[in-house]
Amino acid sequence: MSERAAELEAIVAGRPRTQLEVDLPQEQIDAFWRDGFTSVDRITTDEEVSWLGELYDALFSERHAAVAGGYFDLARPYDSPGDDLLPQILMPEQTIPELRKTTYHRNAHKLAWKLLGAEPIPGWGHMILKPPRIGEALPWHQDEAYWDPAYTYRALGAWLPLDPATLESGCMSFVPGSHAAKGSTEADTPVRVHRHVNDDPSVHALVTDDVDASRAVPVPLGAGGASFHHCRVLHSSAPNRTGRQRRAYAIEFQT
Ligand code: NI
Repeated sequence: MSERAAELEAIVAGRPRTQLEVDLPQEQIDAFWRDGFTSVDRITTDEEVSWLGELYDALFSERHAAVAGGYFDLARPYDSPGDDLLPQILMPEQTIPELRKTTYHRNAHKLAWKLLGAEPIPGWGHMILKPPRIGEALPWHQDEAYWDPAYTYRALGAWLPLDPATLESGCMSFVPGSHAAKGSTEADTPVRVHRHVNDDPSVHALVTDDVDASRAVPVPLGAGGASFHHCRVLHSSAPNRTGRQRRAYAIEFQT
């Protein structure tokens, strides 16, 4: 076993067994269907946030070598030289199933079930890192634009920052109600036309045009808080202009 693999294994073995019960009042469930998003101040403990941060740093320092689901820069053509501006690790749970046993995973699954009104299938995660100062924006999009249009979805994304997510470090912003036609809570807005960033198909990130950003609501969160957003709500995140990294771990839940 390589030194790196042994280090990773030791971190995984040190997972803290933390407990935290979270719940959502009905007003927040209603707000989710009206606005397309909602958030909670806490979804897991400081102890688990710190462990996830250690694991996260180890995974990103190994880049693709450690992770089955892959490592790539969302904001630049695949395999570009130089610093990554928005690196992502997809499906880290495939390599590290312990991630499914975390307080975060348990609570996110429970709240996703409540919000969607049906039990979601086990979600898949993605870790998106905004490095200090050069961390790129993720432009306006609907998550469903990334998915196979052959299926219909009742789905949401849970999003956990491991560092404070502020206006300066790249918190998420949402356009309230953009998942639903006016006055409807049926999430019946169509999936918009999206294009690759810079119109370059070798850039993974998608963007949609003509978004009224003046209506957007930023949702700053402390480390260990979480937001939930509908798969059709328009959202983006700003660049990271701070001197510290902004790590986030999102999980997609579909019924
Ligand atoms: Ni998204």
